[in-house]
Amino acid sequence: MQTTYVMVKPDGVQRGLVGEIINRFERKGLRLVGLKSIIPSLELVETHYAVHKERPFYSGLVEFVTSGPVVAMAWKGVDAISVCRNIIGATNGREADMGTIRGDFGMDMGYNLIHGSDGEDTAEFELGLWFPEGLNDWIPNRETWVYE
Ligand code: RTP
Ligand code: MG
Repeated sequence: MQTTYVMVKPDGVQRGLVGEIINRFERKGLRLVGLKSIIPSLELVETHYAVHKERPFYSGLVEFVTSGPVVAMAWKGVDAISVCRNIIGATNGREADMGTIRGDFGMDMGYNLIHGSDGEDTAEFELGLWFPEGLNDWIPNRETWVYE
C-alpha cells in the first residue's frame, strides 16, 4: 500500500469541482485518509514547490496556489501514487487524455485543477508538509471487494 498527497488547486475549488474530483478517487477504490480545506501560506506553498524554484513559472505558480482555498487530501491504496497520477492526467489540460480530471475539465497548463505526488519520496515529503497532524487510517469494509 502507498499513501499519496493530492490537492484540488484554487481553480478547482472556485469552479465547484471538489465533489466531482473526490468522487473519482473514491469510486476508483482508494481509501481517503486525510481531507481538509485550507488557504495555504506562502511559506507552505514555496516549500511544496521548492523543486521548481529556478523555473520561470515558479512565482506565478506560488501566487496561484496561495490565492484561495485548496482541498488537501491523502489517498491510500496499492500503487496509489501512479494510480492517482493516472486519474489526474497530463499537466496540460488541452493535451491530457479524456477520462482524466485534467482532460475532462482543464484547458490550461497552469490552471490544471489538481496536484498529485510524483513518487514515493515526494509523497512522504508532501504528506508530512500538508498533514503534520498525521492521517486517519482505517479499513473500509468495502475493500474486501476492491482487492482479490
Ligand atoms: P503537479 O506537480 O501540480 O501535480 O503537476 P505536474 O506534476 O503535472 O507538473 P510539474 O511539472 O510538477 O509542474 C508543477 C505545476 O507547475 C505548473 N507548470 N507551469 N508554464 C509552464 O510551463 C508550467 N509548467 C508547469 C503547472 O501548474 C504544474 O501543475
Ligand atoms: Mg509535479
